[in-house]
Amino acid sequence: MKALKNTWYAAAWDVELQPGALVARRILGEALVLYRDADGLPVAAADRCPHRLAPLSAGRLEEGQLRCMYHGLLFGQGGRCVEVPGQEMISPNLKLKTYPLVERHRYLWIWMGDPALADPALIPDAHWLADPNWRALPGYLHYDRANYVTVMDNLLDFSHLAFVHENTLGGGKVSAEIKPRIERFDWGLRISRLYSNIPLPPYLKALARFEGLVDRWQIYDWRMAGNVLSMDFGSAPAGCGALEGARPPEALVFHTVQCLTPETEGSTHYFWAAANGFELDNALVTEEIHRQTAIAFAEDKAIIQAQQAVIDEHPHERMTAIAADAGLQQGRALLGRMLQAEADREAAA
Ligand code: FES
Ligand SMILES: [Fe+2]
Repeated sequence: MKALKNTWYAAAWDVELQPGALVARRILGEALVLYRDADGLPVAAADRCPHRLAPLSAGRLEEGQLRCMYHGLLFGQGGRCVEVPGQEMISPNLKLKTYPLVERHRYLWIWMGDPALADPALIPDAHWLADPNWRALPGYLHYDRANYVTVMDNLLDFSHLAFVHENTLGGGKVSAEIKPRIERFDWGLRISRLYSNIPLPPYLKALARFEGLVDRWQIYDWRMAGNVLSMDFGSAPAGCGALEGARPPEALVFHTVQCLTPETEGSTHYFWAAANGFELDNALVTEEIHRQTAIAFAEDKAIIQAQQAVIDEHPHERMTAIAADAGLQQGRALLGRMLQAEADREAAA
């Protein structure tokens, strides 16, 4: 499926853009180069030199200015060419095509559509990742074979936890049996999944400071613009009121912000971070959560890419819905309306 253009997408993690680094990244089919300028501000530009189209990601940064390493043109602030070796006059046409790029809450957010519409107030909230009350490590997974909607389907239906993540995030068939509450908004969906009196999910066993059954919650917003999942989730001793919002000190509380950024129609960037709100002084806990989550997300990737291969082989085969598909069906319907609205706006312009 095509993707919305006029929205903020996660383009990179802040730590990827080290001083002097040139990051080549394709987003919505466009080859880009990302870097920091002389002031440390992030820049996203088309990865092609306006001279003879050599890739700029094969160039080098010179004090925040980008040198094309074919014939040596140098580009400075705002993408302006500031040096052409052996030539005094510089045409204003020698300019990089740049895209709005904003650094916020450890993500770099890019706007691939009409720059006049790029309002930073629309950037999704990911403050948990930069908040002193939480700890998070940046995660990334490359789906080399999956349209972003195939991954979105997975994130709008956690019934798969019972099977795909049997030994990690799962914890019994109950994940497939409970009925989530799904609320619809013009920006996306809010999905609430509450489990009472269940075993602790396997991946948390080493971290819990309590024994016995738990109450578990997963309450998340799926924001269609930018494909952002923002989820409050965790587990606490059964019966302590966690499902009514209580958070006793021993509760294992998390917040994750995950973003699907289409690379091409057939491949997807998956940025994720699972912030923990407990044991803040123990970096090993955060590392272990990150490691375990990465294992679980690799399980998703394996089944989703295998599924995508079959879908591609049978593009006209109809899928057959079950009750657990309610979230993804509503999500797809909303996405379809938003894509249509964007296409109508473009046709009218
Ligand atoms: S292609 Fe970049 S300087 Fe010639
Ligand atoms: Fe999953």
